[in-house]
Amino acid sequence: MISPPRIAPSILAADLARLGEEVQRVEPFVDLLHIDVMDGHFVPNITFGIPVIASLRKVTSLPFDCHLMMTNPDAYFEPFRTAGADLVTVHAEVYPDPREVAAAARAHGLQFGLALNPPTPFVAVEPYVELCDLLLVMSVHPGFGAQTFIESTLDKVAEARKFIDSRGLPTDIEIDGGIGPDNVARVRAAGVDVFVAGNAVFGAPDPVSAVEAMRHALETQREP
Ligand code: DX5
Ligand code: ZN
Repeated sequence: MISPPRIAPSILAADLARLGEEVQRVEPFVDLLHIDVMDGHFVPNITFGIPVIASLRKVTSLPFDCHLMMTNPDAYFEPFRTAGADLVTVHAEVYPDPREVAAAARAHGLQFGLALNPPTPFVAVEPYVELCDLLLVMSVHPGFGAQTFIESTLDKVAEARKFIDSRGLPTDIEIDGGIGPDNVARVRAAGVDVFVAGNAVFGAPDPVSAVEAMRHALETQREP
């Protein structure tokens, strides 16, 4: 069943020179912190890694939702956990059969998520949803913030929602890319539990107002 909506600001869009302050400013208003780790191989961009996560762990108690856009994330599960990660999401394109990587994450005390790029169909992960705490539906091509939301990904969300509910699984559906106050309500209607927002929050003149605008849009949305 769908859970109450949760908001996960993505630090990719934050002022990285003032990262601690940026996170602490929104902390009372959000549910998770989305941390985009990019390796320059799986995606054509490089962001931040374990030392940044460890530094952030000292300044916030938000759960860390680590989106690992990497070709070999499992090699780093132990340092991710030690640094303070709570959940690691790896890509289905990297692990067509994710059973071993899911077990490895759990063995390190991490929750496990599986992400799908826009071209990857839901059927590719269907046999493995029951292994996942989180299914991340990418609504932009991964690698960069502030891209335009791809509408057709909502069909994938609806398909995933139907599958999860029909089997009574506890797996959350997360959406990532191009999310903000203007589209969050209809994305919720498709069946999303967790909303990642980078540019819409940290790119706004007032990040707290931006989160509140998302919350307001979600509250006035009739539940699916
Ligand atoms: C993109 C990242 C996203 C990104 C979203 O590869 O996975 O988490 O930060 O940024 P916005 O919300 O700006 O589209
Ligand atoms: Zn992300």
